[in-house]
Amino acid sequence: MSPNSIKICCIGAGYVGGPTMAMIAKQCPDIEVNVVDINEARIAAWNSDSLPIYEPGLQEVVQEARGRNLHFTTEVSESIEKSDVIFISVNTPTKTFGIGAGRAANLEFVEKCARQIAESSHSHKIVVEKSTLPVRTAEAVKRILQSATNPNASFDVLSNPEFLAEGTAVKDLLNPDRVLIGGECPDAIEKLAGIYGRWVDAERILKTNLWSSELSKLTANAFLAQRVSSINAISALCEATGADVDEVANAIGTDSRIGPKFLKSSVGFGGSCFQKDILNLVYLCEHFGLHEVAAYWEQVIIMNDYQKRRFSTRIVHTMFNTVSDKRIAVWGFAFKKDTNDTRESAAIYVCRDLLEERARLTIYDPQVKLEHIKRDLEYLMVNEFGELSEHHRKLIDSNVEVASSAEAAASGAHAIAVLTEWDEFKEVDFDAVYQAMKKPAFLFDGRNLLDREKLAQNGFEVHAIGKP
Ligand SMILES: NC(=O)c1ccc[n+]([C@@H]2O[C@H](COP(=O)([O-])OP(=O)(O)OC[C@H]3O[C@@H](n4cnc5c(N)ncnc54)[C@H](O)[C@@H]3O)[C@@H](O)[C@H]2O)c1
Repeated sequence: MSPNSIKICCIGAGYVGGPTMAMIAKQCPDIEVNVVDINEARIAAWNSDSLPIYEPGLQEVVQEARGRNLHFTTEVSESIEKSDVIFISVNTPTKTFGIGAGRAANLEFVEKCARQIAESSHSHKIVVEKSTLPVRTAEAVKRILQSATNPNASFDVLSNPEFLAEGTAVKDLLNPDRVLIGGECPDAIEKLAGIYGRWVDAERILKTNLWSSELSKLTANAFLAQRVSSINAISALCEATGADVDEVANAIGTDSRIGPKFLKSSVGFGGSCFQKDILNLVYLCEHFGLHEVAAYWEQVIIMNDYQKRRFSTRIVHTMFNTVSDKRIAVWGFAFKKDTNDTRESAAIYVCRDLLEERARLTIYDPQVKLEHIKRDLEYLMVNEFGELSEHHRKLIDSNVEVASSAEAAASGAHAIAVLTEWDEFKEVDFDAVYQAMKKPAFLFDGRNLLDREKLAQNGFEVHAIGKP
């Protein structure tokens, strides 16, 4: 396989598969990259001007390579057959049923990919785990691949977890802190390293054994989430004592042993990965009888749930113990700025709590549509109660609406809740917003995004996270 003749197939055109493959195709014009998915609508969107995911800079990367050496297609078998390197980048959600429900990763989609690769392969393939997987999944993948019937089919399995962060995916892919490749076959490792080596310095390409690579991804996410939960725990103490969590974060973050990143207190972390990967880690620890280790990591999730609930409770208590029939402007629904991804967004939980209190919500997010907001709220209710009751369906239908701007959402509202840190919220004309709101005009800043003193001068009653 000369580097020039490499063909790549990536199974899964999601938040990871799409941007990652677009970057490989952009940086390596001589490598043919086929991104495949069973979701026809998603593939159609990747082939259109309206990409299925929002990421700053992604449109330009896709436009440069698409049609040249980057293709999006639903022809899974054909793409596998003609490729030398096959990435598995499918979803690995938390299991919702059976053994390990609520903790273990659901590996159904990964296993289906491995079976399809085994069936469709007629030559040697390097199979790359790009999805985040429990440690030792490669063992199962290898065993399934052994079931291939074509005598010319043979496989090497590598682990190459993705560390990109949504919202900065293009930047992260272009200039990664590191690329991690775990495997057993030095040739296969070198081939994959050679692809990344076109634009990533050799010293940033780390090579480990398979199990270290698989476990490193879960560990990285656990450590990142742990920092958020740690500062959020301190934010509760700040509110009780008069300390200011941003001042504390700054004071400890300048210690070079601690560092400043991931010390921003907020309404709680979200996203498709942190919670899922920690639960997976907890499940693994329990599986190996390491109960104290499991309990230690589970506390990170418990603290995050507490933080989300604490925020919505504070809104209710502050607004004279009732938000029933009051209108609350919700600014932001995505789990962080610069993405349209709402998976596990703290906003879903806060909105659920406020709806339970019969508040009327007017939501504005520059990238999230009403249908997705309603879908997320319904999904949460189904998860919690086993089904969507008539009561909850009516509540979501009648008490949730969207606005076309932050100002429009706030017009006539009793309160604003900032749930995503979109930059545009800082540019709002707060004088006008204040005038258009019911009084007292409450503002609950779940991201410590806005200037509290200025807002107070505008007349707002401001409540932020971890502030006196
Ligand atoms: N989203 C992130 O920021 C991020 C970062 C690092 C790692 N990861 C990991 O990467 C993996 C993928 O995450 P994602 O956010 O891209 O998920 P996603 O849900 O956005 O995309 C997964 C895609 O796989 C497709 N798929 C599932 N089974 C398939 C099959 N058999 N054949 C073809 N297509 C199939 C789905 O239709 C879906 O479009 C997960 O394991 C996740 O934990 C995600």
